[in-house]
Amino acid sequence: MPATNSRRQWLKQTSLAALGLGFSFRSMGNEEGIPRNFGKASGLINLGSNENPYGISPQAKSAILDMIGESNRYQFNVASLGSFKNQLASYYAVQPEQVLITPGSGEGLKLFAWHFHQGNIVCANPTFGILPGTAKKNGTQVKEIPLTKEKLHDLPAILAAIDKNTGLVYICNPANPSATMLPPQVLKDFCREAARKTVVLIDEAYLDFLVAPDNESMISLIDQYPNIAVIKTFSKIHGMAGLRVGFTIGHPSLVKKLESTYFQNTQIAVSNLTMAAAMASLKDEDHRLQSRLKNEAARQFTFESLRELNYTAYPSFTNFIFFKLNNYQGDFAADMMKKNIILRSANYPDGQWGRVSIGTREEMQKFIDILKMIRP
Ligand SMILES: Cc1ncc(COP(=O)(O)O)c(C=O)c1O
Repeated sequence: MPATNSRRQWLKQTSLAALGLGFSFRSMGNEEGIPRNFGKASGLINLGSNENPYGISPQAKSAILDMIGESNRYQFNVASLGSFKNQLASYYAVQPEQVLITPGSGEGLKLFAWHFHQGNIVCANPTFGILPGTAKKNGTQVKEIPLTKEKLHDLPAILAAIDKNTGLVYICNPANPSATMLPPQVLKDFCREAARKTVVLIDEAYLDFLVAPDNESMISLIDQYPNIAVIKTFSKIHGMAGLRVGFTIGHPSLVKKLESTYFQNTQIAVSNLTMAAAMASLKDEDHRLQSRLKNEAARQFTFESLRELNYTAYPSFTNFIFFKLNNYQGDFAADMMKKNIILRSANYPDGQWGRVSIGTREEMQKFIDILKMIRP
């Protein structure tokens, strides 16, 4: 494409972003609309949803089986579940009044979008879509700040975008879809500064794929900064995406506001089986360790293979990799779909990028083999 054309296209797209009509990271393969039947028999490999391919903890599995007999009961009539919120609070060293449990963190993100519907919301672009997408549906202005050239959150630009009408800043760290991370000290400084002006929500869905000192949660700031909240999920490292449980940790006043506005009782929004599994999974550190190590090995293989094939990929701190599709002319996700691989791709001002979730080592080998076949 001639330079003038690409510049024109870039300008068109950036002005769309400025209008809040930015690029959503939806695959052009429309994989949400197709019937799925994964596994060896169908040959279909799902590398599109950043799931944990190793399944739930064996301890979580047996906790579900033990709880099945109590499925006729509401959660508040099952003694062992009464302590779910307390256990979560004690695991993260906060008070139970600081915890808001939701059926998946996606539902928590929607609550934030609904609650802060007046004024505007500031976030990155691209970023995880539920919160900004819900906000836009509500008619809330979303100020979308492009990632830097290195695909990092542009923190100075985000700070500069906060104005007197900003109700919320949303930061996903490590980031989705770019898989990059902000060092804890940098993010802490940003949170402290932004929290002087507005509420800051940090999405730590992928934080458990990091190791110390990078895996420091922003929860430690909440006591001192009531404007800071953190949202987490059991869907990723715990492998519980289908069981639907996530939670927000924030100042008791914010949690109370969210809880009393949107729920009669949050704890009955999540099933008994899910809570039993989550409590068991929290105790199974080895399951998380194994998931992390296997993810790291398969990710390393994928990253090196992509580099060998001359793709630009920034180091990933998550269970997915974001990579640039050098001059790929077609719809990458749709073309991979035809080869039985589900992943995501989208056009950005600097070209088409793909996002591939890290499956098992065997699945990633298949992905690389197919990539070699379809690339120009
Ligand atoms: C950054 C981020 N936050 C939140 C979620 C939502 O996860 P869940 O609703 O399964 O907890 C996802 C899911 O992919 C995600 O990538």
